[in-house]
Amino acid sequence: MNIAVAQSGGPTCAINASLVGVFREALRNPVIDAVFGSKNGIEGLIKDDLTDLRRVIRTNEDMELLRRTPSTVLGSCRVKLPAPDDADGAHIFDQIFSCLEKHRIGAFFYIGGNDSMDTVEKLSRVGKERGSDIRFIGIPKTIDNDLPVTDHTPGFGSAAKYVCATVQEIIRDSSVYSIDSITIIEIMGRNAGWLTASTCMLRANGETAPHLIYLPEADFSSEKFLEDLAAEKAKHKAVIVAVSEGVDPDCGDDMRSGVSDNFGHKYLSGVGKALELLARDRIGCKVRSIELNVMQRCSSHICSKTDIDEAEAIGAEAVKAALRGENGVTMVFRRLSDSPYVVTIETADTSMLANKEKRFPKRWINRAGNGVSDEAVKYFLPLIQGEVDIFMNNGMPRHFKLTD
Ligand code: F6P
Repeated sequence: MNIAVAQSGGPTCAINASLVGVFREALRNPVIDAVFGSKNGIEGLIKDDLTDLRRVIRTNEDMELLRRTPSTVLGSCRVKLPAPDDADGAHIFDQIFSCLEKHRIGAFFYIGGNDSMDTVEKLSRVGKERGSDIRFIGIPKTIDNDLPVTDHTPGFGSAAKYVCATVQEIIRDSSVYSIDSITIIEIMGRNAGWLTASTCMLRANGETAPHLIYLPEADFSSEKFLEDLAAEKAKHKAVIVAVSEGVDPDCGDDMRSGVSDNFGHKYLSGVGKALELLARDRIGCKVRSIELNVMQRCSSHICSKTDIDEAEAIGAEAVKAALRGENGVTMVFRRLSDSPYVVTIETADTSMLANKEKRFPKRWINRAGNGVSDEAVKYFLPLIQGEVDIFMNNGMPRHFKLTD
């Protein structure tokens, strides 16, 4: 049989490692002939736009380079499939299944987050209804770490490592002058505060900053924010604040565009700027906001070896699950212990993850709603361990590019 793989949703720097995991495991298995890459996620199956990956990933060096390359080599999408019982949408499933059948694809692997698991769930349901024996397997990824069931998601550890390293550098930079200052750092994560909360790991390196951490899981009021800033300003010359993009600034200055994607998720960027304007007006010292933006999900020069290794391993396990006959499942990590760090890879019914969000636990947020506990540090630390030896060219990281 042949297999196909696609990448979907927001990029991470580990999503190509999962693709390599699928590809390498397929090469090890004589029952698998061609490995197709579907361009731009599910759009590739709808438009019959597939690439024979054996033609483009030719050597072991290609695989090694690809697993170190950020973003999605096959492109991505934010496409929501119609409901399986919606007669108007049946032609979309006809196109997908006709593409799968035409290319004798026996298993389809979708690397993505909670929206992409909606696609896996719908495809396996429609497949069963149509009597197809094609297997649909989800492989998790997202820097937001907001998928339920799994202990964590590939891509998150590397994003957290980048965020912590960058915030540590910002701390050094912001404390050089003798004047008072406030620096507000906006971090991605949509409705979940995991990535912003991960800055608490800097404590393990003896940092006291960020002095304030705001997550969407805690109530936010701009008046209380100003009080918190005043209290921290009395203690520190340079106050550092980490704020999740999902926090609602509640201060009139909405810097957001209001644009939504196909799943109804709003493009959130802007809270840092809104809080900067508020603090500048009401407190009056030097205030700067920094939005880490897409750098936190596409920077591979300081990625976590644990994350990249796990991303590849979970891709390989997905192929084994398909060959065992599993269908409509998503691969998940189960953590057995923090120290030593031990995880197993298992499968879970995709309906348990599709369209669902796992938010940062309230029990790890302090009473004041502006910081997180040391328990969270124990959870996060294992995920950022180890460094990947990056391939360089002319003093810059080298990336794998599809030239098919
Ligand atoms: O996929 C996760 C994510 O990176 C979120 O953290 C962020 O809010 C969103 O994607 C941004 O979406 P887009 O890539 O569509 O701008």
